[in-house]
Amino acid sequence: MTAVRELLLSRIRDVADYPEPGVMFKDITPLLADPEAFTALTDALADIAVRSGATKIVGLEARGFILGAPVAVRAGLGFIPVRKAGKLPGATLSQAYDLEYGSAEIEVHAEDLNAGDRVLVIDDVLATGGTAEASVQLIRRAGAEVAGVAILMELGFLGGRQRLESALSGALLEALITI
Ligand code: PRP
Ligand code: MG
Repeated sequence: MTAVRELLLSRIRDVADYPEPGVMFKDITPLLADPEAFTALTDALADIAVRSGATKIVGLEARGFILGAPVAVRAGLGFIPVRKAGKLPGATLSQAYDLEYGSAEIEVHAEDLNAGDRVLVIDDVLATGGTAEASVQLIRRAGAEVAGVAILMELGFLGGRQRLESALSGALLEALITI
């Protein structure tokens, strides 16, 4: 593992039995509070953005906003929020997806993504892959191209990569840390 990845991993806190018994929550707030680590993370994700040829950054509410917005600024690209349903005031496209129990829905302003856009999705964690997969579907339905998905941390034991790779059909999938 590179020094940057070691630094990032050292700033992610494991919280047992949160938000429910049996779940190990990955808390990124120590990383966000450390300017050296947050800058290193922003730089690493901005490198991926440039390499992917992205023309826009999509961040997934909520933690993908915190990571994605500085990456967009660093890479000189526009930032597009993909929000949980009911939060955007303009005309939206929405995409439902299944959770372990129940379902969820995400939305984007329809005017923010168009043919000719090449979009990199940024989020903190890849778990089952459901959220990222839904964002890929949403971006394509808006008529834009998906450059890829860049994630801080992938939870390898949940199979999210396999699910997301089949949705990405060859587009980039990069996780800085895999556990
Ligand atoms: C978490 C995490 C990812 C998603 C990963 O978001 O930030 O966005 O779950 O899970 P998946 O791969 O199984 O879809 P969540 O909506 O729980 O919380 P947040 O609003 O704090 O980002
Ligand atoms: Mg999230």
